[in-house]
Formats: sequence, structure tokens, C-alpha cells
Amino acid sequence: MTDRIIPLLDERVAAIRPALPAETQAASGRVADRLGRHLHDLRISVTDRCNFRCTYCMPKEVFDKNYRFLPHADLLTFEEIARLARLFIEHGVEKIRLTGGEPLLRKDLEKLIEMLATLTTRAGRPLDLTLTTNGSILARKAKSLAAAGLKRVTVSLDALDDAIFRRMNDVDFPVRDVLAGIDAADAAGLAPIKINMVVKRGVNDHEILPMARHFKGSGHILRFIEFMDVGSSNGWHMDDVVPSAEVIRRIDAEMPVEAIDPNYPGEVAERWRYRDGSGEIGVISSVTQAFCRDCTRARLSTEGRLYLCLFAQRGYDLRALVRGGASDAQISTAIGQIWSQRADRYSEIRSEATVALPKIEMSYIGG
Ligand code: GTP
Ligand code: 5AD
Ligand code: SF4
Ligand code: SF4
Repeated sequence: MTDRIIPLLDERVAAIRPALPAETQAASGRVADRLGRHLHDLRISVTDRCNFRCTYCMPKEVFDKNYRFLPHADLLTFEEIARLARLFIEHGVEKIRLTGGEPLLRKDLEKLIEMLATLTTRAGRPLDLTLTTNGSILARKAKSLAAAGLKRVTVSLDALDDAIFRRMNDVDFPVRDVLAGIDAADAAGLAPIKINMVVKRGVNDHEILPMARHFKGSGHILRFIEFMDVGSSNGWHMDDVVPSAEVIRRIDAEMPVEAIDPNYPGEVAERWRYRDGSGEIGVISSVTQAFCRDCTRARLSTEGRLYLCLFAQRGYDLRALVRGGASDAQISTAIGQIWSQRADRYSEIRSEATVALPKIEMSYIGG
């Protein structure tokens, strides 16, 4: 045991309390921030707990038995989440992703999904309703999630090699159970399934090719994510990052690929396809090629703080408005005001100084 001291930001004391708007303003459906970016995605964290201890996200020496997770009374209730989601939709949100920690650990999550599945976009279309999971209990849950109205899932999987995977999740969880979860999600129609692999040099980069070979032709979309300096506890160093360009070079040498157009402007993953027609892969390059310019994502934490960036230091306490008796119009106005003042673009301005700043943890805000 080292006595490394890790400065963890206590997000729970650093929130900004938005003022109750004296005058309300109807949402236009196209609220823009200071850089002209429209609010389009809402990522909702439903728990700060996880049954894994991935070394790059929830290192055991920090998230141990003494770590204080949020008490239940602090969590937004499903009714509160659904109400806020509806108000965000008025501002133009069309895609909602449930995250965690591990979202499937939240009790009765299907009930929340049922509530969110009844919401439609301003144009009257169904929401793109999805969820990011570590897959550990997906085999048990896939059917009920789909029945509740979930459209698709993204599963995190960092290695196919069982020993490497067990070491990375650090709770000795076997890879075959996650693969069974992916199969169950496929059978339940939660497609297209995306598989997210965070690549860390020297830890799992030799798994890039086995992962690519395994999922080639499966219909699932494997995405390689550059290891990021989120939070303050993962000991990030630039040397650990495998640039996406290198990932593509390595795959292309064995299985030729070509770039394809994004599905929509500002898509996080850059898309590639195998030249032999056997499917698609993606790379997410937030370190070597920041995509802040098109970032339309807002994040709602488990206890109702609105974060404007994955690397934010502070969030806006929407729960205080909700529990303080604010009307829908007042909360909606506050959301519009907060978004319109946004100027975050962390990945574009990353430097040694910003890397050292205390930031919110990935396990707290989800991916
Ligand atoms: P899909 O529509 O399903 O492709 O969703 P997505 O493209 O938003 O992908 P997903 O939610 O699976 O995000 C994948 C990973 O990309 C996350 O786990 C993060 O590591 C990274 N990521 C997603 N959004 C952002 C972002 O706004 N900023 C940064 N820096 N990284 C992000
Ligand atoms: N860098 C990149 N991605 C990360 N994730 C967690 N921590 C990091 C990091 N430091 C990803 C997980 C998962 C999603 C929730 O976020 O792999 O796919
Ligand atoms: Fe849990 Fe996902 Fe973080 Fe791993 S990356 S510890 S599975 S929240
Ligand atoms: Fe958006 Fe912040 Fe990520 Fe940039 S670093 S893409 S602003 S969440």
C-alpha cells in the first residue's frame, strides 16, 4: 500500500445554487450557449455506485469501504428525474443516456425507463433513449429493460482476455458474463449495441486487435476511447494515451478500414468501416482531437446537479429548485439561463495546469 494522497473534489459541497428566476421565459427549443452550441443530449446519472473498481475510474484505494457514497435521500427520485427530463426536452434535448456509476444497480430502474419512454421530442418524435452499462447484470436485465422502452445499450468492455479484464475491473469479474450480457441485449433487440473500450498503453492496448477480430461481423459497433484525465483520482498521464490514429493504423494493417461520414454533426465517435463490408468501428479522440466545438451535452448528476462539461469543477443545484417548490416555468427558465452562459471547452484547452485541477469523478457523472 502506498501512501499516495489523492485530492478528491467533494462535488457535494461545491455546487452553485441557481437563483429562482423572478421572470420566466418560455423555452425556444433551441437554446444556444456562448459558443453557439445547442442543447441536444442529456446524460443522467442514476447512481454514484458501481460493482466494479476499474483502475482508471474508481481506484480501490479511493473508493474503499470508507468512501461516502450519496445517501438515498440525496438522490433525485424518478419523478424528479422525469420532470427535469421533460423540461430539458423543451429546450431541445432529443437524446437521453442513463449512466452511473453502474445504472443497473439503481433499484427499479425499469420504472424510470417507462416514465422516460413516454416522453417525446418537441417535434413529437420518440426520444433516443439509451444507457451505458458495465454489462455485469445485463444478462438478467436485458429483457425487462427493452420491455420498459429502452431503445439500445452501450456496454463498456476493456479486454477480451479474461485475466486482463479481471485485473482492469479489479473485482475479478469474468469476461464471459459481460459477453453473455451483450448477447442477451442483442436478443432483446437493444441494438445497435455499442461496445466501449478505454485503451490504456501497456495495460490493454495489445487487446485492440483481439477485440476488433471478435466483434468484426457481429453487428455490434466497437469503439476505442482515448484514456482521459477525468476526475482527480486516476493518475492520468499523456504517455498512457494511445492516440486514435495509432489504433486505426494497427487495425488497418490487418483488417483494412475506411472512414465514413458522421451520423450527425458533433458525433463523439469518428466512424470507420471494414472494407470487406463486415461492419463498423469507431474511435473517440477527446485527447488528441478535441470535439468541444460541437459539444451539445448536458449532464445531470445523481443528486440533481447540472454539469456543463465532463471536466467541470462545479455543478448547478437543480434539486434545490425542484425541492424548493419552483414551478416548471421557473426551472425551465433557470436551465435556459445556465446553458446560455456556458463556455466550457475543456478538452480544447487541456494543459498541464488543467490536468492538475480538481474535477468531478467519472463515476459520479457517468461517461
Ligand atoms: P452514441 O450516440 O451511442 O454513439 O453516444 P456517444 O457518442 O455519446 O457515446 P458514449 O455515450 O458511449 O460515450 C463514449 C465515451 O466518449 C464516454 O465514455 C466518454 O469517455 C467519451 N465522451 C462522451 N461524451 C463526451 C464529452 O462530451 N466529452 C468528452 N471529453 N468525452 C466524451
Ligand atoms: N477515460 C476515458 N473513458 C473513461 N470511462 C471511464 N473513465 C474513463 C477515462 N478516464 C468510460 C468507461 C465507460 C464510460 C462510462 O466512461 O469506459 O465506457
Ligand atoms: Fe464502474 Fe464504469 Fe467506472 Fe468501471 S468505468 S468503475 S464499470 S463506472
Ligand atoms: Fe464537451 Fe467538455 Fe467534453 Fe469538451 S471536454 S466535448 S466541452 S464535455
